[in-house]
Amino acid sequence: MLTFREMEMNDLEDVIRLEEESFSTPWSANSLFTFFIRSDTFFCAALEDGKLVGYAGLTLVPPEGDLVNIAVDEACQGRGIGRGLLDFLLSEGEKRGITDVFLEVRISNIHARRLYDAAGFKFLAVRKDYYTDPDEDALLMKREGGK
Ligand SMILES: CC(C)(COP(=O)(O)OP(=O)(O)OC[C@H]1O[C@@H](n2cnc3c(N)ncnc32)[C@H](O)[C@@H]1OP(=O)(O)O)[C@@H](O)C(=O)NCCC(=O)NCCS
Repeated sequence: MLTFREMEMNDLEDVIRLEEESFSTPWSANSLFTFFIRSDTFFCAALEDGKLVGYAGLTLVPPEGDLVNIAVDEACQGRGIGRGLLDFLLSEGEKRGITDVFLEVRISNIHARRLYDAAGFKFLAVRKDYYTDPDEDALLMKREGGK
């Protein structure tokens, strides 16, 4: 069974592992911990039969938020978990006054871009050389609440 809930301190070890598996320049354990305990962030987790298979985080600066990270275990991708996680995060963000959400995504990250398009994010701008390893531009995208 798949469930979504607010991330807990006990999840941190699994989230760090997933972060390291998912990104070429992952956040350090220390950065993740520091962000997680801040009062102006919200992190959520996806669990399948009790096992953490995804996580996502949002900064909360009402009415604006930034999607800081989202990742799903590679073995579980393509089954709607990312979409469920994003929907859960956005609806929890709305409860905390977040109507407009921004994000950056690698131009080549087709799966993530499909996820964001389907969730109503719109292209705003290109951020030149935003990423390293490999160097790549980012698309800046924005979703306005209720859309
Ligand atoms: C982006 C990510 C979170 C999506 O998670 P997911 O659970 O696979 O998402 P979903 O199953 O909801 O699918 C999202 C879209 O990607 C497509 N997709 C995902 N995995 C796929 C795969 N292996 N093959 C083909 N399409 C795939 C889905 O078809 C869907 O598009 P659609 O709505 O047009 O059908 C996941 O791919 C991931 O963790 N990637 C690595 C980390 C990352 O890049 N994060 C984003 C940083 S900006």
